[in-house]
Amino acid sequence: MTSIKALTGENLSTKAPVLELHDIQATVLRPRPAPYFGFHVLLHIDDAESGRKFLRRLAPHVDSAAGWWSAATPWLAVGITHAGLHALGVPQDSLQSFPEAFREGMAARARQLGDEGANDPKNWDQSYGKGEIHIGITAFSDSEENRRRILGVAREQLEGLTGVRVLAKQDFGAQPGDLNSLGYKDGIDQPAIEGSGVEPLPGQGHPIKAGEFILGYPGESGFTLPTPQPDVLGRNGTYVGFRKYQSRVGAFNRFLRANGATEEERELLAAKLVGRWRSGAPLTLAPEVDNPALGADPHRNNDFNYSNDPRGRQAPFGCHIRRMNPRDTTLTRLTDVNLHRVIRRGTTYGPPYDPNALSEEADEVPRGAYFLFISAKAMATIEFLQQEWINDGNFMGLGEERDPIIGLQEKGASFTIPREPVRRRVHGIETFNVLRGGEYFFMPSLSALRWLGELR
Ligand code: HEM
Repeated sequence: MTSIKALTGENLSTKAPVLELHDIQATVLRPRPAPYFGFHVLLHIDDAESGRKFLRRLAPHVDSAAGWWSAATPWLAVGITHAGLHALGVPQDSLQSFPEAFREGMAARARQLGDEGANDPKNWDQSYGKGEIHIGITAFSDSEENRRRILGVAREQLEGLTGVRVLAKQDFGAQPGDLNSLGYKDGIDQPAIEGSGVEPLPGQGHPIKAGEFILGYPGESGFTLPTPQPDVLGRNGTYVGFRKYQSRVGAFNRFLRANGATEEERELLAAKLVGRWRSGAPLTLAPEVDNPALGADPHRNNDFNYSNDPRGRQAPFGCHIRRMNPRDTTLTRLTDVNLHRVIRRGTTYGPPYDPNALSEEADEVPRGAYFLFISAKAMATIEFLQQEWINDGNFMGLGEERDPIIGLQEKGASFTIPREPVRRRVHGIETFNVLRGGEYFFMPSLSALRWLGELR
């Protein structure tokens, strides 16, 4: 998240940004509005010239990051899969210059991602996992009216183009209180990016080198990642890991009821699973009772590390946010945590979370989250997170325990809550969020979008 002053444009760094913001897509730096409304559209290209014409028409409507703080007007983001680049007629040597995981696509990387069992691509929703998805369009806006307006803009660009087909469209939007599909406030912590002109908020840590998130700049190691060729195609672009989750709200509520006798006990348990109360207040700053004012305050709600909680008595080692960003936690496997950060754009869909939904039918209600994980090495980072920090516990000394929110669980899975005098181990953790689809996208710069549109 960004500072409020920065959001109003008041507090921009006076130093000239080192990033070519006018060429980078807005979504890389611009946070979701609160509340937010939007849609994802997945497209298939039947005919290369229609695909290129669509991009030529669309490019002027894709915002750049130069005005990243002006989230009041709706904006579009565009991603293209490797199959999509092929369908647009990108030359073979250029196609080969993309990383292997991107070339293969997310479904083909199921083994590296641990997407098996319930999360296996063979169980994914229609359109996913078959190489059919070529272009993904995402729109964000601050009102229902603006969502309709930007949808109209996107539709206009498709008019008369018989060679581009809509495979799927999904609206998403803020739930009451800006909560996600399991009833938590989310989208709080984001990495700060060096040279972006975005002021870090307290607790965001030192700004991370731009090359971790955008192609063409040095990363944390001092090196610039190989950029897809030609340079105009790769530079200022990035990758997006797109994952659609279905939240099994009934299973989640049944688990809380089975392990918490009172509302207070259940809410504490829900907080222990994530590391934050549903209000967003972090357990390290509000260990005993929720503090909604803290959760709502962007200057305080992320201003913590784990130095005062070395035994996990406040935020358990295995909770979602401590796994996903261990901050200063001592890990059993030595890792530089700054190499595994991603920019997250979570988008919640379906009816709001209902704490009283307990039935198995409630698990089937289409409700959950589409995540956009943005990074210059999104494929490697997501595959690392899935293997090491989500579906394993050894890096934290937790054996086979997995992430309680997004882990793929075996029957009888448990979650350990360190406490005095003896730890508590809760059983009955299930796969509360099931993967229903996903794809790797390349998010080109604005000049690359124009280049693609002009290909012959
Ligand atoms: C539907 C599934 C998910 C739910 C319900 C969920 C929920 C949450 C919540 C409530 C937070 C705390 C608030 C915040 O910092 O934004 C959070 C943080 C986070 N989540 Fe998730 N999440 C989900 C999926 C994922 C996935 C798939 C990943 C990565 C592969 C992920 C990575 C993160 C990260 C990196 C943080 C920030 C941790 C920090 O910096 O302290 N989440 N998530």
